[in-house]
Amino acid sequence: MCGIIGYIGKKKAIPVIIDGLETLEYRGYDSSGIAYYNKKKELKIIKEQGKIAILKNILNLNEESNLGIGHTRWATHGQPSRINSHPHNVGNITLVHNGIIENYEELKKHPLVKNYKFISKTDTEVACAIINSLYNENQDILKSLEESQKLLMGSYALAIIVNNDFEHLYVMKKDSPLIIGVGNKENYVASDVPAILKYTKKYILLNEGDIGIVSNKNIKVYNQKKLVKKKILEFEWDLEAGMKNGYEHFMLKEIFEQPKVIEQTIKEYINDYDFINLPDLTKYNRIDIVACGSAYHTGLIAKYWFEEYCNMEINVDIASEYRYKKNFLDKKCLLIVISQSGETADTLASLRLVKEKKIDTLAIVNVVGSSIAREAKNVLYIKAGPEIAVATTKAYSAQALLLSILAFKTSVDKKIINIKEKEQIINDYHNLSLYIQDILSNTKICESIAKKIFKANDIFFLGRKIDYAIVMEGSLKLKEISYIHSEAYPSGELKHGSIALINKKTPVISVITDENIALKTISNIKETKARGAYSIVLSSLNMDNNKECYDDLIKIEHIHSLVEPILPIIYLQLISYYIAKLNKRDIDKPKNLAKSVTVE
Ligand code: G6P
Repeated sequence: MCGIIGYIGKKKAIPVIIDGLETLEYRGYDSSGIAYYNKKKELKIIKEQGKIAILKNILNLNEESNLGIGHTRWATHGQPSRINSHPHNVGNITLVHNGIIENYEELKKHPLVKNYKFISKTDTEVACAIINSLYNENQDILKSLEESQKLLMGSYALAIIVNNDFEHLYVMKKDSPLIIGVGNKENYVASDVPAILKYTKKYILLNEGDIGIVSNKNIKVYNQKKLVKKKILEFEWDLEAGMKNGYEHFMLKEIFEQPKVIEQTIKEYINDYDFINLPDLTKYNRIDIVACGSAYHTGLIAKYWFEEYCNMEINVDIASEYRYKKNFLDKKCLLIVISQSGETADTLASLRLVKEKKIDTLAIVNVVGSSIAREAKNVLYIKAGPEIAVATTKAYSAQALLLSILAFKTSVDKKIINIKEKEQIINDYHNLSLYIQDILSNTKICESIAKKIFKANDIFFLGRKIDYAIVMEGSLKLKEISYIHSEAYPSGELKHGSIALINKKTPVISVITDENIALKTISNIKETKARGAYSIVLSSLNMDNNKECYDDLIKIEHIHSLVEPILPIIYLQLISYYIAKLNKRDIDKPKNLAKSVTVE
């Protein structure tokens, strides 16, 4: 969850590292730090609690330095504080770390570090002390890192500086993302490509167990004591895609990018009236869909599509639950994992678990070359481009869209959807970005609703079946960026307890797209209205005969139900955004959250 950056070369290292950290701030932002060699070849370590801006303020950006490492932290072990911040230094070793050393308590008692007095509460300092002791024994950093791999359990991406070694940065990776950026007589190290995009688009992906030795002219990567040949990759997005482009927040920019993203995803998988680049899922009897957060919510939507249109059994699970549950998988099952980052620890662990049983796996991922993308048997990319705001928007829609196309294709392959219906659905896909553009061209309705409800203490969301899956994401969006308590309920369930929380003016936001159960939801909304709720309804159906069930109505384009569920969330994203803005929240970096959750 933390962000790592390193630089070696002719530029001034400090501004490069700060630039990188600012790009990586979405990975964590409760403290940050930097270590570098100055002109006099002295090692400087400067770190501070709080956002990167605080660190930046106390640094001299003009100071001469050609080698350094930096870190932005999302605390796991030890609260946010200067002492617990990275870089950590023990003896000859200074390092930054992303991941969790799971056996750190045990390692503290290891003979190698028995005389060392730990000063922080972090697992990272333990790794640093272990590597230092090994280095003191071996006087050979490569050998020491190789030996440390046998001792360090858990996950780590490490960038390391060694005392009196002014020519090299060292890196080591297991289960946490790390890349080496390739420049001209300069090289970079980072958790994520956008951190170095300003300087280079070329990079090397590190694999599990890789140890890298990086100088300004050379990159050597070893795995299991052998030098490995690495491919230099080129990032396909430009820096602009990672910048705000005049929008006040990345989240708003990413909401507005959705028409383009939707078009790109469709272009990748539908060619006029035919499917391309998609697997055949008809051979499976059952699909397990596993993910976390918003990605999990897209899985819930997919469940309805696959069940309805493909007659298939679908189980959707939260990855942190799935990995510890008893599963009943056989060769006729497929596991689909969904992950924007492709690095979410629990999703990755679920994938590995199922892969071990030789069950087929398919990953739906945004970040090319991420761990999940590399490890799954098959991968489909959503083509959403870099997503920076912690609260996902465009990646969510693109995931939902790709799952919809997959269910659609499977239904066509199974001959459940006929040719005529197929054409209608494809037309709806081709028009989808126009419908979204329409929503985005009039955000006034969302702003005005936000103004009415932004002071609420609780906001409830209601829906049934697929509409329930949609409002789960709406509720998550709202709470994560506005900090307002919110819950999503299957509308029939509210009266089994939670309706007790509905008071005069409590906002209740409902989505009604499923015609078959619309009247049921409408009755449930009326129950909340009878208790004073302020009702906002988003519906694609004609509500003329049900005016008494809403105070505000948002009309959604009525299109095929394989496509329509992608529309309401755009409104819900906007309403959440404006509520958070009115509450003056830090929209792109909400408190306590991180974009990429690479720890369990
Ligand atoms: C974090 C993010 C969410 C995201 C979830 C899963 O909690 O804040 O927006 O949905 O992780 O991330 P993934 O990268 O696996 O989609």
